[in-house]
Amino acid sequence: MKILVTGGAGFIGSHTLIELYKAGHSAVVVDNLSNSKPESLRRVAEIIGVPEIPFFKIDIRDRDDLERVFAEHQFDACIHFAGLKAVGESVEKPWEYYENNIGGTLVLVDVMRHHGCKNIIFSSSATIYGDPAEIPITENCPKGQCTNPYGWTKSMLEQVLMDIQKADPEWNVVLLRYFNPVGAHPSGRIGENPNGIPNNLMPYITQVAVGKRKELGVFGNDYPTPDGTGVRDYIHVCDLANAHVCALQAIARHCGIGIYNIGTGNGYSVLDMVNAFVKMNNVAVPYSIKPRREGDIATCYCNPAKAKAELGWEAKFGIEEMVRDSWNWQRLNPDGYPD
Ligand code: NAD
Ligand code: WQD
Repeated sequence: MKILVTGGAGFIGSHTLIELYKAGHSAVVVDNLSNSKPESLRRVAEIIGVPEIPFFKIDIRDRDDLERVFAEHQFDACIHFAGLKAVGESVEKPWEYYENNIGGTLVLVDVMRHHGCKNIIFSSSATIYGDPAEIPITENCPKGQCTNPYGWTKSMLEQVLMDIQKADPEWNVVLLRYFNPVGAHPSGRIGENPNGIPNNLMPYITQVAVGKRKELGVFGNDYPTPDGTGVRDYIHVCDLANAHVCALQAIARHCGIGIYNIGTGNGYSVLDMVNAFVKMNNVAVPYSIKPRREGDIATCYCNPAKAKAELGWEAKFGIEEMVRDSWNWQRLNPDGYPD
């Protein structure tokens, strides 16, 4: 299939391009580079062994620009990663998050349908479950109260896309609810490249390990979890990338609406992650216990059985590969991608 990949220069998008090409698909990337660098696409091309990845530096909110891409290419489906994703920033700048994530998706979907492309895979998030009503979380778990505007954009966009599919059953909509993506391509050539102080656990750990930050703050050790620190379902980004290829098969079968949790089903605490990182990579990660972070929940991991049964997808990599590949990327690229 020929796939439009929005946000393809970013962390998950760049890894997904590799899986798409490996599976025999082709891709065209649109990205405004607001949170990424074109170097990621150069390296993806190098890993795949192609001269370049077709790329348009455009903003998906710009209808005319998007129209031009669709005029040049006939797409079978869109994998829609483009969006702002920093939870804390979304609390400070709610308008910007709603406008970019929701506004951008509305323009994208409209241009898609005008061009007869009615297949979309959407990057949703475990955050839509709020403080989950059940653990492990199945897709039947009710959506919850999000604690920040970023989460609401995902929750609302799920509803928007489901309503559009309901009104026009020619659409196939796959909502992939990612748990906590970590790791990097084993080559160490591409990975996560956060701007400024990382919000997420794994990039913070790697930046402490490489000496860019003094110590990790562990946000709370008094949660009702085995060691008191927060438990999450970390998933290797290459496994996550592969889930999109499997989701394309569901689209080819005209699934209508498909909703899937994409995680490993294993819950690891903050200290589990730190200890695995130190042991596997033989580097120090000093840390100290800090107060709980506002909006955090104690435990979040999924039951990924539906994705296995219906998409034939399951995670292959475990915690050791996650911490090994996260470190490999950071070690080889201490300052991320060059400009
Ligand atoms: P990322 O920031 O690395 O990638 C997103 C890309 O979208 C960036 O390259 C950015 O430049 C681009 N972009 C943003 N707004 C755009 C716009 N208006 N027009 C064109 N391009 C635009 O983030 P990621 O970690 O790769 O996440 C990809 C998707 O998965 C996002 O939608 C994110 O919300 C979702 N998600 C991420 C996580 C995570 O922890 N990384 C978890 C769940 C869901
Ligand atoms: C994981 C655990 C923290 C940093 C977020 C978004 C979610 C999704 C994935 C996009 C928690 C602890 C963290 C640190 C710490 N993103 N921690 N010290 O909060 O589960 O999910 O990213 O959709 O929407 O909310 O991930 O990596 O921030 O935190 O102790 O410096 O690590 O308290 O227990 P989270 P995270």
